[in-house]
Formats: sequence, C-alpha cells, structure tokens
Amino acid sequence: MPKVFITRAIPENGIELLREHFQVEVWDSEHEIPREVLLQKVREVDALVTMLSERIDKEIFDAAPKLRIVANYAVGYDNIDVEEATRRGIYVTNTPDVLTDATADFAWTLLLATARRLIEADRFTRSGEWKREGIAWHPLMLLGYDVYGKTIGIVGFGRIGQAVAKRARGFGMRILYYSRGRKPEVEKELGAEFRPLDELLRESDFVVLAVPLTKETYRMIGERELKLMRKTAILVNIARGKVVDTEALVKALKEGWIAGAGLDVYEEEPYYNEELFSFDNVVLAPHIGSATYGAREGMAELVARNLIAFKNGEVPPTLVNK
Ligand code: DGY
Repeated sequence: MPKVFITRAIPENGIELLREHFQVEVWDSEHEIPREVLLQKVREVDALVTMLSERIDKEIFDAAPKLRIVANYAVGYDNIDVEEATRRGIYVTNTPDVLTDATADFAWTLLLATARRLIEADRFTRSGEWKREGIAWHPLMLLGYDVYGKTIGIVGFGRIGQAVAKRARGFGMRILYYSRGRKPEVEKELGAEFRPLDELLRESDFVVLAVPLTKETYRMIGERELKLMRKTAILVNIARGKVVDTEALVKALKEGWIAGAGLDVYEEEPYYNEELFSFDNVVLAPHIGSATYGAREGMAELVARNLIAFKNGEVPPTLVNK
C-alpha cells in the first residue's frame, strides 16, 4: 500500500477512509511538527496531508523522492510552492466548498461581535463589576454600531465572499464587492455592486477581507487604504494575516482612523502582539473560521477523496495545479 503522512490529527472519518487505501501515519500533537522531523518523515511517503502552518517547498520536495501528491487540509494553499510542485509533477489539492458556509458564518460572528462590543460586554458582565458597583442600566452603556441596513464591502468575491454577501441580504445591507474581475451573474443574483477597492473602502461601514493570499493581495490593506475607510467602519479579516499591514492597522486603531477590527488571521501564526491585542475594539480569534464539526469533517473527507482518486489513477477532484 502507498504511504501517506498526515501532519496533524484530522477528524477520524478522513483517516478511516484513508486506511482502506494507504498506510497512514499521523503526527498526533497540538504542536506543529518540527521542520527537521517533517523532512525525515517525507523521505518514504507517496502522499502528504499538510496544514496551512507547514511550508511545503523545494526543500521538502527534495527530501521526498517518492512524493506524488500534497493534499492541503485548507482551502488556501499559500503555504505550498505550487509552481515547484507542478514542475515536478506533484499534485496539489485543497478543500474548497466544504468550509464555505462555516467560514462565512464566522466572518459574520466577528462582524457582529465587533460592532456590538460583545467581548467587552461579556468581560464586564462576567467580572461582577456590574453588580458590585451597582451600575444601573444606562442609555449610554456599551453602545455599538448599527448593522442592519448598512453597507458591507467585501474584498474578494469567491465562494466565501459570496457566502458573506448572501448573509448580508438578510441584514438588509447594501452590498459592495471588489475582485480582480467583475461577476455580472453574481451581481444580479446577490444584488451586489462592483467598486474599485478605494471606492469600496470609502463607502463601506464594514469591510470584510475574503481574498486568497497572493503576490497581488500581500498587504493590500495598508496605511493608505485604512485612511480611506470611515472613522466608524469596522474591518474584518478572515482571509490571511499578510493581506493587512499589521503595523498600519495598529496605527489606525490607535489614531482612530477606523472604529474597530475583527481578526481571525495574523501575519505569523501562532501570534501575539501586545499592542494590537490591547485594544478593546478589536475582537480576536486564533484562526478558527472553518472550525465547525461539519466543516472539519467535510475537509477530512475531501482530503481522503483526493488521495483515493490519485491512488486509483484519476485526477483528484479539487486539484489546484494549473
Ligand atoms: C483555509 O482553509 O484556508 C482556512 O484558513 C483554514 O480552514
């Protein structure tokens, strides 16, 4: 049987499927596999299941003479040198669709939690200060920003961006989007309007980033862009941390260029930034956009289906090599 190495424990449904076709080894730890261990492990494998935290590059391919497929347990695959893999005839696959709704739901979780100051409210209620100090219900306590009927600007209008827009319809919002090309069909279906990025930033009450990380999107939101946003606007990033210039974001929050931010992703992960994490108007999550039972099981199954197709000599269903 061909060998597959999985760099983290994934839901059992995927592993069970794989065991029928592969000799499976799993790196079962909360910690990232050390690079030198990964370089050892890949020596004998035909297939590799990777997480977004592993850099899969020339060095790994050189160490893995038998490797024929890398199945990334994520929809984004900026961690993999796909060009180099393609040059070597190695398949690369990802996990689109199965996590779209969970990730769009989470964009909305961050948007609402930031707009309505949910984390601050939770901290205050839980602290006991409310009762202890006998603080009366107050018309000006913990005021947040209206969401219903406002304008949302979605940067990146692929599957996840569109799913965010679908939800925005229920909130009676004006929907603006920016993407590399216009999408007339989707515009009609979702009632969304295309805007060049600068205009979208100027007009939106909520800006949601849903682009893949590429050379073009690297730090696409920097000082200039943050200054274009409204002082009352909220930035939500569920894409990749490197899409935003963090230093500029800290400056924007400190100087009040924007009203707040909801972040699921960071320039490096794991991440800690004392200054960024000190703002009350920032809601933070440790990259859990797709972290639902359903999505993660769907991802595990799709990873397995890609590998099994490869083993049967078929083209894997969600191949990313061009
Ligand atoms: C992805 O799939 O790219 C997410 O960031 C993690 O699920």
